[in-house]
Amino acid sequence: MINIPHNNHNTAIKNKIIIVTGATGTIGSAICDHLIKAGYLIIAVARNAEKGKQLFENSNKEQISFRSLDLLNNKAIEQLFTDPLLQQGTLRGVISCAGILKRGQTETFSIEDWDTTMQLNTSGTWYLFQNAIKKMKKQSQGGMLIAIGSRWNKGAKEAAAYAASKSALQGMIASLQKEFAGTKIRPMLVSPGSVASPMSKSVNKAIQAELLSPNDIAAMITYVLATPHRVIFDEIVIKAYNYDLTDQHA
Ligand SMILES: NC(=O)c1ccc[n+]([C@@H]2O[C@H](COP(=O)([O-])OP(=O)(O)OC[C@H]3O[C@@H](n4cnc5c(N)ncnc54)[C@H](OP(=O)(O)O)[C@@H]3O)[C@@H](O)[C@H]2O)c1
Repeated sequence: MINIPHNNHNTAIKNKIIIVTGATGTIGSAICDHLIKAGYLIIAVARNAEKGKQLFENSNKEQISFRSLDLLNNKAIEQLFTDPLLQQGTLRGVISCAGILKRGQTETFSIEDWDTTMQLNTSGTWYLFQNAIKKMKKQSQGGMLIAIGSRWNKGAKEAAAYAASKSALQGMIASLQKEFAGTKIRPMLVSPGSVASPMSKSVNKAIQAELLSPNDIAAMITYVLATPHRVIFDEIVIKAYNYDLTDQHA
């Protein structure tokens, strides 16, 4: 794990720590930006340290610290929770946004691609949350666990592994909600439809304007994080009203 340390975090902000995985991605980077504006201290996680450095170059360094790690490696996830920032401050939430989509016909889809998809999208989220729960219990202040799912959890053509990995999150989060009901630990699932990204640049401009923006998801997550402990959400499904690319592929 390569750390890009920033040691100038003040005490107040250290008590508002959020871990965001997938921080170099389309949605994860928007979530980081919004949470910085909302006054949190972000531990941003992804593999590509160079991209992380570039993306957050102009962000308030006091509010973001990048950690380069491979979430396919369970040891690295454990190590994340021994981070000096987490020893000094309070973990308020974890947003599991790292994810991969591999598509292909069933007969030729490799078992390696199946396993990697399940390992990152499902098991990685589970292990991240398991470690976070231990930390949050020690802190006795609760916290929020947000998994980023997908509308494809209902099944999508040539995306069986992805759909399975995301529908597994539905069962996982519903179960955690039952287990932690009555505590201040709040597990939630946010399932977006298709988001405007570099990939959707091929779609014509009028349609592009109608697509869900990563900022729409980031703003919603910022709101969810700010809700009081008494509030819980079932799966939050968010999609573009007029044109959701998901429906073209599902
Ligand atoms: N885009 C959409 O339309 C859409 C719709 C519904 C749901 N979602 C879900 O939203 C989440 C984010 O999607 P996105 O479009 O922002 O994806 P993206 O742009 O492809 O970003 C994926 C992120 O995951 C990280 N990542 C991938 N493999 C990793 C690994 N082994 N270890 C650590 N980090 C890893 C990537 O960083 P590095 O490569 O630097 O590691 C990157 O930060 C995913 O869970 C996705 O399934 C996306």
